[in-house]
Amino acid sequence: EGVEAGARLNSAGLDLADPLAVAELGQAMQRHAATPWQAAPLLGGFAQAGAARPVLDPADRRRQVGEAVWATPEMADKALARAEAAAADWDALGAEARARILRRIADLYEENHTELMALAVREAGKTVGDALAEVREAIDFCRYYAARGAEIFADSQRMPGPTGERNELRHAGRGVFLCISPWNFPLAIFTGQIVAALMAGNAVLAKPAEQTGLMAAAAVRLMQRAGVPGEVLQLLPGDGAALGGRLVKDARVGGVAFTGSVETGQAINRALAARDGAVVPLIAETGGQNAMIVDSTALPEQVVQDVLISGFQSAGQRCSALRVLFLQEEVAGRTLEMLAGAMAELRVGDPGLLSTDVGPVIDEEARDLLLGHDKAMTNDGRLIARTPLGPDTEQGTFVAPAAFEIDSLNRLQSEVFGPFVHVVRYQANRLDRVVEAINASGYGLTLGIHSRIDSTVDYVIRRARVGNAYVNRNMIGAVVGVQPFGGEGLSGTGPKAGGPNYLKRFAVERVVSIDT
Ligand code: SER
Repeated sequence: EGVEAGARLNSAGLDLADPLAVAELGQAMQRHAATPWQAAPLLGGFAQAGAARPVLDPADRRRQVGEAVWATPEMADKALARAEAAAADWDALGAEARARILRRIADLYEENHTELMALAVREAGKTVGDALAEVREAIDFCRYYAARGAEIFADSQRMPGPTGERNELRHAGRGVFLCISPWNFPLAIFTGQIVAALMAGNAVLAKPAEQTGLMAAAAVRLMQRAGVPGEVLQLLPGDGAALGGRLVKDARVGGVAFTGSVETGQAINRALAARDGAVVPLIAETGGQNAMIVDSTALPEQVVQDVLISGFQSAGQRCSALRVLFLQEEVAGRTLEMLAGAMAELRVGDPGLLSTDVGPVIDEEARDLLLGHDKAMTNDGRLIARTPLGPDTEQGTFVAPAAFEIDSLNRLQSEVFGPFVHVVRYQANRLDRVVEAINASGYGLTLGIHSRIDSTVDYVIRRARVGNAYVNRNMIGAVVGVQPFGGEGLSGTGPKAGGPNYLKRFAVERVVSIDT
């Protein structure tokens, strides 16, 4: 059903090999790039006033992209009260009516895809290709959850029972859902969490990442134009601790969807556990220490291509990105030589240019952390290759993609969220240790395997505790409804985003027994 459903539902996007389409896209994005984008807290459908903060382009920090007003804790309290009051009517609206609104959101995203793409490029530093994928994924989430939700939540399910009694299983929303989303997929993950919660019958408080409030505001405006009432979806741009930290402690919040760092996920879990009242779900997608295993039967050209995509696309700022490349000793030298050659050809620079492979990282803080890691690795004599930065990168937060050799995965204490691949050599007869090391990291998000030996692939897949394994291909870019996405262990709670079981976690089950 997966692939068929994918073929039917997934957004077609745009052909970047068609020069006419690309020229039109470029012009439209150029027009939008001049827009002075605005973000503000949206309470009951109304923008709230406050001090505006400049939002700067990661590719050139002299360039202002727009202005954002951050929500205050008082606004968060007000929004919560309004959401609580609005939840029941939204739930009572029924699944088909909510699904229709989700489909309308998808259509509006499609109509406005150039503005959303321009925002992804200018506010989040995404390349044009990544920006296109971002909008497509957001559209896919809307249509997929609309289709799944209309099925799951529409009718009550008849249960068996004695004659004279009707037993029905139904679903209902949990009340108010708090959705806390990251900057690395400022439209796709932001939208995916919200529309899932809405589809299940919840009112939503959306707390986007500090860095990408403009995209969040543009998205919420479209969702409200599509028919989501202002009280049912409210936007709280701003500081994570001040807003999210406060809201998770409030017993009126009936569930939390969170994507971000392991540390913040754990802090939310602790806050939810410490509060009085009902025990509510946390749906968390967190980090990864993602490995790719390459044995001597792999095709080297394909390995190099897939390492470039998995490690460096999106400047490595995907939770699915490759961090640790395990190379079988016999092929390590040749593979690394080819990898270094290919890395020299990558273009790092303005993400708005189609010729750019790697754009900036999100901000100064991210860049400084990554440069510190690069320096430590380089000083230890572990550098294998580093891609030179392109011209015009001085004013932005760019980090040169690099590959380092390390003796074991243990050398990496935590996830390094940027364009770095760490290489570990292994001996053919010690594949068991490789899998043990991957499992011992505690993370369990993505895994790549390049091998032509079925029994090797099977051995790894059966033992590695990871959510998404990719065989003889790259390991990023899970497709909604085709590759349900999410990890285990330190990487997340499940259920998987874009998968058949995601929506149910946002709802409660109720049974009605009627004597007939
Ligand atoms: N869904 C994204 C991917 O698969 C997460 O980073 O790449």
